Amino acid sequence: MGGTTVLDALFFIFNKTMRLQAVTAKNLHVNFEGCKALVVGGTSGIGEAIATRLAQARFNVVVAGRNIDRGNSVVEKLHSKHPKGAHSFLPLDAQYVSDIHGLSNEFKHLDRLVCTQGISTIQARTETREGLDQKMALHYYSRIALAQEFLPLLRQSTSGPRVLSVFSAGVHSPYHKYKEDPDLKNHYSLSNAANATGFYNDLMLDALSEEPENQNVAFAHTAPGFVSTNWGTEMPWYVRTLFVRPLQFYGKTAHDCAEFMSDFLLQDKTPIPNFALLDQFGEPVEPTTMHTPEAKAFIRNHTLEVLAKIHQGQRV
Ligand SMILES: NC(=O)c1ccc[n+]([C@@H]2O[C@H](COP(=O)([O-])OP(=O)(O)OC[C@H]3O[C@@H](n4cnc5c(N)ncnc54)[C@H](OP(=O)(O)O)[C@@H]3O)[C@@H](O)[C@H]2O)c1
Ligand SMILES: *[C@@H]1O[C@H](CO)[C@@H](O)[C@H](O)[C@H]1NC(C)=O
Ligand SMILES: *[C@@H]1O[C@H](CO)[C@@H](O)[C@H](O)[C@H]1NC(C)=O
Repeated sequence: MGGTTVLDALFFIFNKTMRLQAVTAKNLHVNFEGCKALVVGGTSGIGEAIATRLAQARFNVVVAGRNIDRGNSVVEKLHSKHPKGAHSFLPLDAQYVSDIHGLSNEFKHLDRLVCTQGISTIQARTETREGLDQKMALHYYSRIALAQEFLPLLRQSTSGPRVLSVFSAGVHSPYHKYKEDPDLKNHYSLSNAANATGFYNDLMLDALSEEPENQNVAFAHTAPGFVSTNWGTEMPWYVRTLFVRPLQFYGKTAHDCAEFMSDFLLQDKTPIPNFALLDQFGEPVEPTTMHTPEAKAFIRNHTLEVLAKIHQGQRV
């Protein structure tokens, strides 16, 4: 038994190492010169690594986030990867959905939208001035608002436009009370917030992929697995020391993670179907048992209502 388990683990590691090599080799020379990508959360961690990988593939990359110093140093790094590229930093506090409205006015075109913005605090439900929970805003609502904002441009792309949300595909459970309390006003817990936002990412990206006008755009929700980044720095020291760092010790580097995550972004034809849930190695995973047409319609409806309210200046 024990022997089999160790062998299984070794085989798993061997297998994933081979996959990393295969993906790296396949995408080594892809060239997207002239194409443009926006990476929200690109100022650190997984987003920074994806932005860097895209610059290596000769994308012009815009990184968005709050931290100007980090943003500028990432842009410098992008220039060292792809010196002729037009890279820039876009200041954005994505917890405020209304700040996303109009952002695309500064863009002439866009080919890839990547959302990795997130926080790992153990805070209780924390309402922003718009009335959304801060975590739900970062991990879910802002990502859909960004998709909505940039879809008109993405649809015009001829390089197989894509929207990628990096969060928790395949590792979250469904959130059972989505109908009675979609925004966790009375059922907030860390676990429910994580499961609800993961579940809604699955449902809403699928719903967007089904809209007739989005047929040339591909949508994916993916999970990074454990990656050594700044993720977890907001947690109390004992949680960090006991759980986060040891797990990250076994985790992969942001560079390797980005190689897996970018495989979806470095293809130039729209796949059929144009929606995917991908695991930490970029391989397809099954949706949850509650990923039904009914849940999809409900979450689509609810999300559009919430975003419309905020755009009208109302508190949700
Ligand atoms: N690392 C892991 O092991 C792991 C595991 C599972 C899931 N994830 C998920 O993967 C995503 C990326 O994680 P990471 O490890 O790369 O984390 P990270 O190194 O902490 O980076 C987080 C990014 O999110 C941005 N961000 C945070 N608050 C923001 C705000 N209000 N507005 C705009 N941007 C904001 C940060 O930019 P600014 O500070 O410049 O705003 C930063 O670029 C997160 O959603 C995380 O939950 C990570
Ligand atoms: C959230 O998801 C995790 C992982 O799938 C699961 O173990 C946990 O029970 C879920 N939490 C709730 C409150 O449903
Ligand atoms: C969507 O919202 C409208 C208005 O709130 C409601 O009448 C309709 O039944 C909802 N549809 C679904 C599928 O929930």
